[in-house]
Amino acid sequence: MAHQLLQGKRGIIFGALDERSIAWKTALAAVEAGAQIVLTNAPIALRMGKINELSALCNNAPVIPADATSMEDLEKLMTESVEKLGGKLDFVLHSIGMSPNVRKSIEYTNTNYDNFHKTLDISALSLHRVLQTAMKLDALNEWGSVVALSYIAAQRTFPGYNDMADAKALLESITRSFGYQYGFAKKVRVNTISQSPTVTTAGSGVSGFDAFLHYAEKMSPLGNASAEDCANYCVSLFSDYTRMVTMQNLFHDGGFSFTGVSHMVIEDINKMAGSEGNS
Ligand code: NAI
Repeated sequence: MAHQLLQGKRGIIFGALDERSIAWKTALAAVEAGAQIVLTNAPIALRMGKINELSALCNNAPVIPADATSMEDLEKLMTESVEKLGGKLDFVLHSIGMSPNVRKSIEYTNTNYDNFHKTLDISALSLHRVLQTAMKLDALNEWGSVVALSYIAAQRTFPGYNDMADAKALLESITRSFGYQYGFAKKVRVNTISQSPTVTTAGSGVSGFDAFLHYAEKMSPLGNASAEDCANYCVSLFSDYTRMVTMQNLFHDGGFSFTGVSHMVIEDINKMAGSEGNS
């Protein structure tokens, strides 16, 4: 039985597409910790995904469609969520990412700018839209917590990550800028979690993803953080135990971000050098 860290709390979970999604695991973990939730995703993802299965596992959580780039959809989502859950919200998970350039394998140096705008709108500005809507409608309780998911490509270059790197840098910047405003206005917290590479639909679409995954595993003293670990970290950030944490990008990556090189990577390089020397 999980600790009831979210007993009495209400929240919205964006982005549960299928059982691999980080949002899927977070929805399960939040409900297990005592929360009542609303599930949401883009209308097309709701048609293609398995959200009703997840809803059944989450005490029949209401499912409300919303394209995170539409202010109209977001207003409807927040208003209906407060009604259905019977009070203002305590937490929101923004677990949304999509790059048409990545999907179509268009290289960064030959980008399509319409696609680039879509990447930024869906993957970063959507957080601003969610926060602005919540603030206007006064949909979040004081000390509420908003968490969005990021990746270390915001700080360091991973070439296959393409324009998603720029989207993550913007997402983290919006977290600081809006976190400042929302903190003073309503004591609402806004943070990003910078997660290890994780096998999901969004993750696997990135070119060279398997190599990222194995490299990160070898570089991280604790190994890669799983989606379940990420879900538990989200629950802790939604809880009252982290109420003074805001405007942060929190690395949840087994130590990857602060490791220069690991002995395992050195051994691999030495082995490769040895086999090249022998050939
Ligand atoms: P996922 O593919 O399961 O989730 C991405 C979600 O974004 C999907 O549910 C999709 O329907 C939703 N989405 C796309 N366009 C939307 C729109 N216009 N409106 C509303 N929702 C929309 O993959 P995953 O990995 O669970 O991704 C969740 C978040 O985690 C993303 O922000 C991703 O960049 C981030 N992340 C993922 C990592 C990985 O290796 N999988 C590593 C670090 C961060």
